[in-house]
Amino acid sequence: MTVSAHRRAVVTGGGGFVGRHLVERLVEEGYEVTVLDHAHPSDGHRPPEGVRWVSGDVRDPRDVARAVRSGTDVVYHLAAIVGVDQYLADPLAVIDVNFTGTRHVLEAALRVEARVVMTSTSEVFGKNPAVPWAEDDDRVLGSTSTARWSYGTSKALAEHLLFAFADRYELPVSIVRYFNAFGPGQRPAYLVSRLVHRALNGRPLTVYDKGHQTRCLTYVGDAVEATVLAGTAGSAVGEAFNVGSRHESTVAEVAELIGALVEGDVPVLHVDTGTSLGASYEDLGRRIPDTGKALRLLGWECRTPLREGLAKTIAWARSTPSWLALRDTGAV
Ligand SMILES: NC(=O)c1ccc[n+]([C@@H]2O[C@H](COP(=O)([O-])OP(=O)(O)OC[C@H]3O[C@@H](n4cnc5c(N)ncnc54)[C@H](O)[C@@H]3O)[C@@H](O)[C@H]2O)c1
Repeated sequence: MTVSAHRRAVVTGGGGFVGRHLVERLVEEGYEVTVLDHAHPSDGHRPPEGVRWVSGDVRDPRDVARAVRSGTDVVYHLAAIVGVDQYLADPLAVIDVNFTGTRHVLEAALRVEARVVMTSTSEVFGKNPAVPWAEDDDRVLGSTSTARWSYGTSKALAEHLLFAFADRYELPVSIVRYFNAFGPGQRPAYLVSRLVHRALNGRPLTVYDKGHQTRCLTYVGDAVEATVLAGTAGSAVGEAFNVGSRHESTVAEVAELIGALVEGDVPVLHVDTGTSLGASYEDLGRRIPDTGKALRLLGWECRTPLREGLAKTIAWARSTPSWLALRDTGAV
């Protein structure tokens, strides 16, 4: 897909895992890109040539206004605190970035008449047992005394904010809900990144609670493709889309595949989350997207087979010693 040159995009969270892939893709497409991220570009990553970098916090409206200037066509709002370890460590920050930060982004976009795409999550569906989930299916969440729900709940509230701005001000908004994105550059705190990190560092592959849980793992290139389409296709305005692979794998299968692809004799270590993360931790059994809407309205579906995505991730990891040297911080 090509888009006209000189379109201007702002990517909040453009220094993060998905954000870096998105920024690269937008630059390739000829966009002038501004990143707003509270990470500094020198924090282990150099953005592509020509990208304007605003170090700032989406919770501060002045920082958002510095990034989202007049002439901006589209704001991709990715800034968020991500990862189960983080939800448990600082739920207040999780909520504040998702709610207050999103409100600031919407207000800035309204001022300059830019389109907004927000990245949301399969976690908005919570633990609804009726999979696959269509976009308008119910959210089934746990108790507010369980910190892990702060993320899905505040993302859902941010989604409500987008729809409310669309309703009141006719702001053109779209939402993409990722289902377990993975790929090169992800912090080693998630299912794939952590297992790859462990395998290549010669450590056993940790599998939680027997590994019967399933995930629909989505290669980051496919997630970025859907995100760009959500910011360009007329049919995306006012809509939320599930962005995920339809291929369901158990965590144990993913560990086995990674073990086979790294071609080492990597042992598997079974861990009980009740002991390691505390009794209040809740994992989700199955998360499966119904992606018919994205196919119908955007012509998008996941195209990268799991094995291919894992092989690309492993090849990147092998050639990136600084990533291999990171500390494994992940809870799950
Ligand atoms: N990776 C996934 O599997 C996944 C799944 C569902 C949804 N998402 C969503 O996709 C988006 C990107 O996720 P990711 O995996 O790249 O996460 P990430 O943690 O790698 O990137 C998030 C970026 O946001 C920045 N950020 C955090 N708080 C900020 C603030 N207050 N102000 C400015 N910048 C801030 C961080 O510095 C980081 O660079 C997030 O909105 C996330 O909720 C990701």
